[in-house]
Amino acid sequence: MAETNGFTLWFTGLSGSGKTTITNQLVKQLRKREVALEVLDGDIVRENLSKGLGFSKEDRDTNIRRIAFVANLLSRHGVPVITAAISPYKEIRNEAREMMDGRFIEAYVKASIETCEERDVKGLYAKARAGEIKEFTGVSDPYEPPDNPELVIDTESQSPEESAQQILGYLSEHGLIPAG
Ligand SMILES: Nc1ncnc2c1ncn2[C@@H]1O[C@H](COP(=O)(O)OP(=O)(O)OP(=O)(O)O)[C@@H](O)[C@H]1O
Ligand SMILES: [Mg+2]
Repeated sequence: MAETNGFTLWFTGLSGSGKTTITNQLVKQLRKREVALEVLDGDIVRENLSKGLGFSKEDRDTNIRRIAFVANLLSRHGVPVITAAISPYKEIRNEAREMMDGRFIEAYVKASIETCEERDVKGLYAKARAGEIKEFTGVSDPYEPPDNPELVIDTESQSPEESAQQILGYLSEHGLIPAG
């Protein structure tokens, strides 16, 4: 079988930072380039693969380890994978990086807590501030930004389209997808 370039584009960032929005943009753009890929979005994973898990440190770690496990299975056989989960803990992300040695691209989807709270796409920040949601990342639970991500996506100064272009540029420069 022909060798294709599997990789895992691993988004990390606060709720509302833009992980899902940018993923959707990328899927659209990659489809145009006839690149088939798989997406593991945190919200969807929590409805099936990780159904029943909560938001304690232990459950969050289990959720992220499962996502990394599947991303590894796929990407090592040439499938491009995008993961879009908050993945707040550095240590577990680094575990994923080690597992996927050389195929792991960490993209920090960056927006301040104030911006995310202002966007409050899902109304979750309001609930967290009101104490209706415990263990909410950035409000009552930690978020550890990456030290050395391959990509920093500044969603405060860029549109989702520009963010997607930045990432596509990186992927094609590294020979992971065909040039546009
Ligand atoms: N450059 C940008 N990239 C992505 N999203 C942006 C950008 N600028 C503004 N936004 C807006 O920010 C919001 C991001 O919400 P989104 O659901 O993508 O976040 P998320 O990181 O997936 O959050 P969660 O972890 O809760 O799933 C959207 O309403 C989007 O329109
Ligand atoms: Mg999302």
